[in-house]
Amino acid sequence: MRALVLAGGSGSRLRPITHTSAKQLVPVANKPILFYGLEQIRDAGITEVGIITGDTGAEIRAAVGDGSAFGITTTFIPQDAPKGLAHAVLTAEEFLGGDDFVMFLGDNLIEGGIRHVVEAFERDAPAAQLLLKRVPDPHRFGIAVLDAEGAIVRLVEKPKDPPSDLALVGVYLFTPAILDAARRIEPSWRGELEITDAIQLLVEEGRSVRASTVEGWWLDTGKKDELLEANRIVLTGLRGRVDGELDAASSVTDDVVVEAGARLVRSTVRGPAVIGAGAHLEDVHVGPFTSVAADCRLERCEVEYSVLMERCEITDVPRLEGSLLGRDVRVGRTERRPAAHRLLLGDHAQVEISEGRL
Ligand code: DAU
Repeated sequence: MRALVLAGGSGSRLRPITHTSAKQLVPVANKPILFYGLEQIRDAGITEVGIITGDTGAEIRAAVGDGSAFGITTTFIPQDAPKGLAHAVLTAEEFLGGDDFVMFLGDNLIEGGIRHVVEAFERDAPAAQLLLKRVPDPHRFGIAVLDAEGAIVRLVEKPKDPPSDLALVGVYLFTPAILDAARRIEPSWRGELEITDAIQLLVEEGRSVRASTVEGWWLDTGKKDELLEANRIVLTGLRGRVDGELDAASSVTDDVVVEAGARLVRSTVRGPAVIGAGAHLEDVHVGPFTSVAADCRLERCEVEYSVLMERCEITDVPRLEGSLLGRDVRVGRTERRPAAHRLLLGDHAQVEISEGRL
């Protein structure tokens, strides 16, 4: 059994962060989303892992390396363009070598790992095994329609008028039959070779396609609000640890991780929250569900329910909430006249100013 992890694609819904970096490397609780999947694959006993890459391939390679840090062996497979999940599978044909495989979308996070589903697939030997989850917004996903016995009747990708609310989770188990099906489908209305259509073909041909429902949480981290929610959920239940330094006027609650080299001066952190290595907080309050990455510098500000990537600098901002900041972002206050907001923002940046606050 092998694993195929999809870390290509364009990441258009997480712009501007994804103008400069891979969406699969955006951190949740200060760890790239992709790493959670790689760990779950390893924990299911799979060590041969192919990783599909696109324009951000160099960054993905640098972050994952040969896989030894995860206890896996990696093979990077460049995809010429993001032409769809089924196209990615066809691109990986040589790596897959006729084996069964688990396909894991690199921007998906699921609770509890995949060991149980890999075991069920190996035991029951269907042509394909899917994971499903009820969602409130089914038009955004691949959707399954089941019959009264729970067998799959139909699969449809991002329907305008969803026939059910059972979404396809981004973890699939396949036999090589999927490659044959992927070769026989046409591009969808969005111009992609959809894995959903390839699986639908297996269903139509009477192959055994199983589905089980995910009980725990499942997060597709493609958008800012989903990413912040993923950060909240992963941080919940965090066990605190202080390896950095707190001065006498600083305090943190039990569910806060302060990494080595981080320094708090007259600051409080109410968890769950993580403060990355080398971060400096001075006269700051960090509220729950916040991840501050390595080497950030925060002075005289309050931050809550946010993800700050490496080396951000926030100064004199009374309150920042629900925010996702990319690397090296600076937000500050100025005494310059005339009093005005002065912005230097990349393409697709979003700013919400609350009157009198910034
Ligand atoms: O998250 C679950 C959903 O994932 C399923 O419900 C849908 O049926 C499935 O089509 C997929 O939908 P998305 O539109 O969310 O897929 P996205 O384009 O975000 O791609 C998922 C991952 O695969 C992401 O890490 C990027 C990578 N990818 C994507 C494409 C289109 C590739 O590596 N190559 C590609 O060609």
